[in-house]
Amino acid sequence: MSAFVAVASCVAAPPKDAVMEARIDSLLDLMTLQEKIGQLNQFNTAQFDTLSAAVAQGRVGSIINEVNPEVVNRLQRKAVEESRLGIPLIFARDVIHGFNTVFPIPLGQAATWNPDLVEEAARIAAIEASACGIRWTFSPMIDVSRDARWGRIAESAGEDPLLNERMGVAMIRGYQTDNLADPTAVAACAKHFAGYGYSESGKDYNTTWLPLPLLADVVLPPFEAAANAGVATFMTSFNDINGVPSSGNQWLMRDILRDKWGFDGVLVSDWNAITEMINHGVAADKKAAALLAANAGVDIDMEGHSYPDAMEALVREGKLDENVIDDLVRNVLRLKFRLGLFENPYIDLSKPSPSYSPSHLAAATKAAEESAILLKNNGMLPLGKDVRRIAVIGPMADAPYDQGGTWAPDIQREHSVTPLAALRKLYGEKNVSYSPGVKFTRDISLDGIPEAVKAASEADAVICFLGEEAVMSGEAHCMADLDLKGAQTALLEALDKTGKPLAVVFMAGRPLTIKKENAIADAVLYTFHGGTMAGEALANLLSGKANPSGKLPVTMAKMTGQYPIYYAHKNTGRPPEWTVDLDSIPLEAIQTSTGCTSYYLDAGKDPLYPFGYGLSYTTFDISSPRLSSATLAKRSGEPLTVECTVTNTGDREGQETVQLYVRDMVGSLARPVKELKDFKKISLKPGESQVVSFTLTPAQLAYHGLDGKPIIEPGEFRVWTAGDSASGTPATFTLTEQ
Ligand code: GLC
Repeated sequence: MSAFVAVASCVAAPPKDAVMEARIDSLLDLMTLQEKIGQLNQFNTAQFDTLSAAVAQGRVGSIINEVNPEVVNRLQRKAVEESRLGIPLIFARDVIHGFNTVFPIPLGQAATWNPDLVEEAARIAAIEASACGIRWTFSPMIDVSRDARWGRIAESAGEDPLLNERMGVAMIRGYQTDNLADPTAVAACAKHFAGYGYSESGKDYNTTWLPLPLLADVVLPPFEAAANAGVATFMTSFNDINGVPSSGNQWLMRDILRDKWGFDGVLVSDWNAITEMINHGVAADKKAAALLAANAGVDIDMEGHSYPDAMEALVREGKLDENVIDDLVRNVLRLKFRLGLFENPYIDLSKPSPSYSPSHLAAATKAAEESAILLKNNGMLPLGKDVRRIAVIGPMADAPYDQGGTWAPDIQREHSVTPLAALRKLYGEKNVSYSPGVKFTRDISLDGIPEAVKAASEADAVICFLGEEAVMSGEAHCMADLDLKGAQTALLEALDKTGKPLAVVFMAGRPLTIKKENAIADAVLYTFHGGTMAGEALANLLSGKANPSGKLPVTMAKMTGQYPIYYAHKNTGRPPEWTVDLDSIPLEAIQTSTGCTSYYLDAGKDPLYPFGYGLSYTTFDISSPRLSSATLAKRSGEPLTVECTVTNTGDREGQETVQLYVRDMVGSLARPVKELKDFKKISLKPGESQVVSFTLTPAQLAYHGLDGKPIIEPGEFRVWTAGDSASGTPATFTLTEQ
């Protein structure tokens, strides 16, 4: 596979600190081969004696999953005060969307379209995690994913490379600050490098087939942005790309990551991913796996034990040059110096825990509010003053653990505010009845439905909380059918028969297929597991104390079979101008009566809701774009300015996210019908208007050819300024050669 020239000019590695490099080299000169290999191992926390013995012998470089600060200090003392060279450990954890104070899952944070808010959430996560000794998190996950069957879509920023890029960089800034040696700074990790979101058939750990243009246009840009933002570490992905497992992919890890992007941080394998190259069938044993990974430049073997078990023999047998190992060790030592661990290896146990502070909880509430997406509202929301008695129904109404979502290992459910608790606080205990209807989301029993229907019948309004338990999304949690599980839909259908105003709140790890439930509900508020303060946020939104502003970071399909479905699709040779619904086709219909174009007879051509969509309790008008010129000269360096006027045409303040899309009308390769190039979230008072301005440069119009090289082709482009990927009237400009 030939390397390709990334779009942005390759970035020189961050300026190396000459003094630090000298310290690294002098330390390296003292290290034995065993001590060098020791730095390249990351072990899961285990029973203390076994682990501390290995640490004292210099056989461990970093530890994952130890979050007891006292144990962290004890292990660190073993490393610093008992091992021969006193090299400190790094303690790592999956702090994916908060540590103790849990924020919305990353897909929910992406739905805020608010990078500043996402940065603040990461900063708070780092403050809480570092207080326990964690100085390395395996976040942000920036795997573009367009198939909601894949459970790990929950951890991503969704289907669009730009949204993944902006959210990933925001998280990196929040975790790391601009001083990695700050004791509250945590090394971030761009993962999973790369292409994991394209796991075939949405099944986790599956193979991927990625042609260079797709890699260069969609998969890699968020990672390049992370490298340019100074992310301290990268993680290899489990999948193979076109038959090459990432942990042994020299093209990806050396040609692209190190040489093209100038990355000089640490590259860690995913858990056991080096040894799993045996399962992939590209390594016969741990020796072969270790050799592939070392030659690919994987610095740390996370819990794979290929490096500790096989690397020394490879050197003794002359199969692996010790200089290769030295380079890997340099990267690990450089990270430890950058983190200030040689100067400050220990945690100050006298400090009170920063977790769950009022400011952290307030930030988590705000994030959960801005992550909620109002999909439908016939006027039922916000709940009117005439609503006194509320029936709270459904398995997610009072689920303090499950509202935390996937990858929340340090959540403390006693701090979670559930929707039931928050609504009772807001409206008064006696005015809010509760009946789950079904005990948990997979519960198939109908026994609880009559009681729920009774509660609904006695209320002024019914709010039903449905969705997924935390375990139903995330790693290794893929679904072949995205319809609601258990008897949830039967519950909703029964509630519908009461004729009461019925709002449905979804709390899930992914976009579910909710066509039926959407049709029943008077209002639909969709959230991707909102975290510790999900309930508080939902009560604020339902009551009108807060106004929804979330926008879909993923396309919401009508049926599972539509996946992969995404807005930036190709036009094909037969785009459907019209469609015929399966049930309307007469018997013995003529073969061509349904048209010969690209759509499903049973699902049509559109999703249920498009990428970027989300309503508010107010309304907005976004004008068509006004361009500074009808042409953009490829070589002039002068960008095109694109302006639009946004007006709040409703009766309450609200936030709108203006999205800038372009379409390249004719290219050497077929181009997507739309691509997001920028977005801005603004707040407007009733009646207020604001001009929103963007710039477009030729580089933003580039794409990659079959050879992976960037192409900027003159020709006609359309540009939209809209509130979602399916709206707006475009303007046209021409990119000219000169
Ligand atoms: C897991 C995940 C990865 C995580 C790592 C450490 O298998 O793939 O995202 O960071 O192992 O827990």
